[in-house]
Amino acid sequence: MTTATEAAEVGTGMAGGERSIVAFCCRECAYAAADTSANARTSLPPSVRLILLPCTGRVSPLHLLSALAEGADGVMVAGCLEGQCHYREGNFNAIDRVTFVQRLLESVGVEPERCRMFTMSAGEPPRFVAAVKEMDRVVGALPPLTRCAAGADPSATAVGAGDTAPGTRVGAARRSAGPALVAPGGEH
Ligand code: FES
Repeated sequence: MTTATEAAEVGTGMAGGERSIVAFCCRECAYAAADTSANARTSLPPSVRLILLPCTGRVSPLHLLSALAEGADGVMVAGCLEGQCHYREGNFNAIDRVTFVQRLLESVGVEPERCRMFTMSAGEPPRFVAAVKEMDRVVGALPPLTRCAAGADPSATAVGAGDTAPGTRVGAARRSAGPALVAPGGEH
């Protein structure tokens, strides 16, 4: 049997530095829907990487921001339908955290649509696939997300480092030193 994780890993070729989307999926609904769609051999965009959670209530803003800072071009949280969280209010907490991260991104000039929340039931694999495809389409239409080392002058990183050009990602070494998100124009 092909699990959703296997499907995601197979599909995450990230060939040639393609965009990447990290999907934090509740085990009870979104991940189950992803597994069913994988078993039906429904292909997902190669950009998506699934992260299994017991409930979306376990997602913190730090998880979402770290994923973006470490290389993801978009992050999505996929949980149970509103009112159907197996842990009562986990998905409502996730919605609040996604909204918080969207506002935070917007405040530093990063497109808030890079972080989205979706809800579905386990019996709705097409809804999961549609959510992933929508995320891939929306993120794919955005300009590249620029990052720089924490504490570094973003304008110097964008134009002066020599190993990167404006609008491109910084190198892996710089990311490992503690990355920060930077607005497309190099602004905070
Ligand atoms: Fe699915 Fe909480 S159990 S969102």
